[in-house]
Amino acid sequence: MRSHYCGQVTEEFLDQQVTLCGWVNRRRDHGGVIFIDLRDREGLVQVVFDPDRAEIFEIAERVRNEYVLRVTGRVRARPEGTVNPELISGKIEILGLDLQVLNAAETPPFQLDDNDVHEDLRLRYRYIDLRRDEMQQRIRLRSQVTRYLRDFLDSNGFLDIETPMLTRETPEGARDYLVPSRTYPGSFFALPQSPQIFKQLLMMSGIDRYYQIVRCFRDEDLRADRQPEFTQVDIETSFMDENAVMNLMEEMIRSVFQLTLEVELPDPFPRMDHSEAMLRFGSDKPDLRIPLELVDLADIMKDVEFKVFSGPANDPEGRVVVLRVPGGAKISRKEIDDYTDYVGRYGARGLAWIKVNDAAAGREGLQSPVVKFLPDEALEAIIKKTGTRSGDILFFGAGNAATVNESIGALRVKLGIDQNMVDVETHAGWRPLWVVNFPMFEKNSEGRWTSLHHPFTAPSVANPEELKANPGMAQSRAYDMVLNGTELGGGSERIYRGDMQNAVFEILGITSQEAEQKFGFLLNAMKYGCPPHAGLAFGLDRLVMLMAGAQSIRDVMAFPKTQTAACPLTSAPAPVSAKQLRELNLKLRKIEKVGSAT
Ligand code: AMO
Ligand code: AMP
Repeated sequence: MRSHYCGQVTEEFLDQQVTLCGWVNRRRDHGGVIFIDLRDREGLVQVVFDPDRAEIFEIAERVRNEYVLRVTGRVRARPEGTVNPELISGKIEILGLDLQVLNAAETPPFQLDDNDVHEDLRLRYRYIDLRRDEMQQRIRLRSQVTRYLRDFLDSNGFLDIETPMLTRETPEGARDYLVPSRTYPGSFFALPQSPQIFKQLLMMSGIDRYYQIVRCFRDEDLRADRQPEFTQVDIETSFMDENAVMNLMEEMIRSVFQLTLEVELPDPFPRMDHSEAMLRFGSDKPDLRIPLELVDLADIMKDVEFKVFSGPANDPEGRVVVLRVPGGAKISRKEIDDYTDYVGRYGARGLAWIKVNDAAAGREGLQSPVVKFLPDEALEAIIKKTGTRSGDILFFGAGNAATVNESIGALRVKLGIDQNMVDVETHAGWRPLWVVNFPMFEKNSEGRWTSLHHPFTAPSVANPEELKANPGMAQSRAYDMVLNGTELGGGSERIYRGDMQNAVFEILGITSQEAEQKFGFLLNAMKYGCPPHAGLAFGLDRLVMLMAGAQSIRDVMAFPKTQTAACPLTSAPAPVSAKQLRELNLKLRKIEKVGSAT
């Protein structure tokens, strides 16, 4: 129907005739002449209709925004002074010779150039939202990224293999989405939280190198970088250890950044122990662009009278830290109150602070609600240990170590953004790293061991008895790739012997009957020639979000769900008919009101 894309007509086509199809971006009536900006996937072009051609001029007069047109016209130079350097087609315009309205359009519910449209409305009319240039670019970037990832993996001998969507539960730590079986009344499939077990089975099948760009499903609390249904670039290899996998994977990420953004990422990526990341940044996914660090004060605070600090300093599960913000003394009381509320959301009981107006003037130079509780020696020691200078502010976190890490770790990032230490819009300055040497297990709130990664991750000790003797001390062979504060991907060397796998299940409190019932097929497969294997999975949505400079993964998914896991466009999830329920042998418990997305 067309000869060219609108956005690709340039001065090279001067005096030629072109036929274009697209949407009306804007129509302007300029006393007798009508201008239509016609838009397609590649961009805009200006079409001019003059009254000499009365028949098409009348059609042009009736045209409204988002009408779908087919235009034939002659390319001519724009008059002096009307060139638009923002557009590829900005030096030319099309003199309309023929015009067809392929379809009319109702007035759209929002203007495409309005940047303040509520996200629910954007998602309800996603097909209009996706017409916006920014969204078109993101969707296109995503397609490019997947293509380069596939190219890299294909040329490195990886086979693209599909694994089932209707399967059993995957222990990745979230709730499962369940699908009732009609043929087996009372039984359910689970949608995969990841293809973890299948990709391990593929290694046991001799596939050697597997990948899949695959949808995963997790019913968990949603955030800007979490969706109930998301895409992994899932990878598994045989006969490669953790170092070999990390090297190959960072080469892949470097190549994708090079090819799509012309960005050179460091070679190699730095590696940091999990314990160091927690100590210095209070986070296992530190944003290294932010030049602030947590400094431990247990040594200085253990003998002070102020219980808020000395309590945690003497508690093995406690932590006292300070975060120095250079030049931060200018932060207002109102802002400090807001930061106090902010850390409160992570469970912090308060946020002590000291403004250092004059670092050399002792107590007199300090402004703070807590200096009165602290002796001179402690104040001096803090200033010395942190390298504090006049004009800085110090923020303190004290309490349970996990709460301090979470709250002050989050405050560090927030301060970095608020105080303009990083460019969040463009992610200028890419700072990838590997976080390695994770603990194998951590205790949950009920005091039971849980896996930091997943139960198939190999420990660094080779002997199952040694692992069982001291689970808290064991480290795993897991690795996370982190970029600018986002966990892009994670993986591990896997357990490939049944005795070790059983030991891990035992530590996790999974009884042998339960293990047999849920994972018997995996334990069985390990008996028939299981190679050492390792792999990882990237979050494709997160990768593209960072590359696109978007603030949420929803912005790089064509049809995402809302923060409450619903789709405003299709109104999913929705109730089903009594007949369907009967067929599935399901009976609903009495509910006040059927919950649906509408
Ligand atoms: P993990 O659970 O760390 O590992 O997931 C791998 C990567 O997937 C992305 N991701 C998500 N992205 C969007 N929304 C979500 N809800 C979500 N959850 C996870 C993250 C994360 O780093 N089977 C293992 C991998 C392995 O060991 O090979 C796994 O799934 O970017
Ligand atoms: P309080 O004695 O509770 O009034 O606290 C005195 C100061 O210490 C206030 O500025 C509080 O914000 C701060 N504070 C209280 N608890 C903590 C904590 N757990 N960590 C950091 N600062 C705290």
